Amino acid sequence: MKKIFLLFLVSFAFIHIQAQDKSPKKMPRIIILATGGTIAGSGESETKAAYTAGKVPIDDLLNAVPQIHNYGKITGEQIAQIGSQDMNITTWLKLANRINQIFKDNLADAIVVTHGTDTQEETAYFLDLTVQYEKPVVLVGAMRPSTAMSQDGNRNLLDAVMVAADPKSQDKGVIVSMNERIFDSRDVTKTSTTNLGTFQSRNFGPIGLIYDGKVSYYYKSLRDPAKKFDVSKLTSLPQVEIVYGYADASPLTVTCLANSPIKGIVYAGMGNGNFNAPVGKALEEAVKKGIVVCRSNRAGSGRITLENEVDDAALGFIVADDLSPQKARILLMLSLSETSDKSKIQTNFFEY
Ligand code: SIN
Repeated sequence: MKKIFLLFLVSFAFIHIQAQDKSPKKMPRIIILATGGTIAGSGESETKAAYTAGKVPIDDLLNAVPQIHNYGKITGEQIAQIGSQDMNITTWLKLANRINQIFKDNLADAIVVTHGTDTQEETAYFLDLTVQYEKPVVLVGAMRPSTAMSQDGNRNLLDAVMVAADPKSQDKGVIVSMNERIFDSRDVTKTSTTNLGTFQSRNFGPIGLIYDGKVSYYYKSLRDPAKKFDVSKLTSLPQVEIVYGYADASPLTVTCLANSPIKGIVYAGMGNGNFNAPVGKALEEAVKKGIVVCRSNRAGSGRITLENEVDDAALGFIVADDLSPQKARILLMLSLSETSDKSKIQTNFFEY
């Protein structure tokens, strides 16, 4: 009798486990935050290039790609409806605070941000430095408006949702998914005005690929801020401007800026962050006025080496390492929101 009872128990447990195995896989909850851009752009014809960015609301974007619902429980929120050339610090703060709140309240397992491509890399890096959680945050955009023939937005959105839903996307920081590639936000940049394959990571290449419904990662950046910047109480950031270097540049721009209330200058220098003598003198004067001067490069790849071609210690400059001028500006603004200690800020540039 005991044996029959035991057999009955074992069979029951077996059937129960089998039934559990067959239950549908839990879908990740994914919130899509829309900000505008060409992915939400609308043109007057399928073949003409002219269009207005940020016209299509989030619900229409989601309805256009019903396949996204195969990968997660999807909901959408409209954060902004702008062309990304109008992206600004207020919207960055709103976006970072919203994402942190969503994860704090456990409302989503992953987030996708739809964004114009012009400043997508800047928003991605800003979020990478300010989102406090390691859940996937994926930025996506399109080069062709939603009304164009062979538009790329629907495919890009589906890919971005797949990336967000993939467990391998945890702990990758904020990433950019475009044109079947996944990029680290620190290194990615828009390289062409109109080409679909415009996004590249010139120094290190994409970190992953998406093809045929599969997400594959190849490497992970070791650059990870030890402590993310807390922007929850900020309404603005210290002002930092970018100055472009070129042959026979006059010191006028730097001198004007040095006489303004800005806190930092990112100098997009020639080669290894170089400048001519008059611009160098003006930058030195800016440092004497308390402005933090950070040397970066206009070449589009490579890094700036400290104390190498330039006597940075004597001149009071810091260097951007391999960050582009536009990303160096973001790190400098955020660093200045916490400290004016130049050696700490320099450490951020070497570690973040
Ligand atoms: C924009 O950045 O909003 C316009 C260009 C684009 O999204 O490709």
